Amino acid sequence: MDIMIATGNKNKVREYKEMLEPLGFTVHDTSELTDYIEPVEDGTTFAENALIKARGVFDHVSMISIADDSGLSIRALDNEPGIHSARYMEGYGYPEKNRNLIERLKGCDDRFAWFTCDIALIDHNGQPHVFEGIMEGEIAYEPAGSNGFGYDPIFWLGQYGKTSAQLTPDQKNAISHRGQATRKLLEFLKKEYDNEE
Ligand code: IMP
Repeated sequence: MDIMIATGNKNKVREYKEMLEPLGFTVHDTSELTDYIEPVEDGTTFAENALIKARGVFDHVSMISIADDSGLSIRALDNEPGIHSARYMEGYGYPEKNRNLIERLKGCDDRFAWFTCDIALIDHNGQPHVFEGIMEGEIAYEPAGSNGFGYDPIFWLGQYGKTSAQLTPDQKNAISHRGQATRKLLEFLKKEYDNEE
């Protein structure tokens, strides 16, 4: 069975292939489409934006379609950068973005933050489904660690005494927002489309 991932990001495509091909799916992505224009992501939540992307590509190709949206929300900053996580301080690298967020929280005791990942799926009947994962933590006082990506070096996990950039990929995957959402997606696909060869 064919499945379309609403992204042209090669790393994301590779990860989805690794997960979905063993279940018998043939994985496609939007780099195969010559006349596809991505919809404007004007939702106000991660779930809305994931659904907009999944619906946009489903309407174009009429096959099961998947899109994800994720980001970091910081309570003391009115949940910023939130759905704008990828575009926050555009033009700057993550070391600068992370320093900026630490600076903005200077003197602030409320360090609570969380990562969200929403994976939207439009099934073969055109019905929407959303799988969500959330990882809670705090904004560290100093960046630390070199694993992971993005905001991981400033995301402090008290129960580990480490930032998420100091976790191994397996440790992060076991608890992360993306790991949780992905496991929910896989459970759904195994139940709904048992096409393992
Ligand atoms: P997306 O690819 O549009 O979902 O962008 C998500 C953005 O949120 C990324 O570019 C990162 O800035 C941030 N983000 C999401 N998940 C993580 C994570 O696991 N670690 C660090 N940053 C993340």
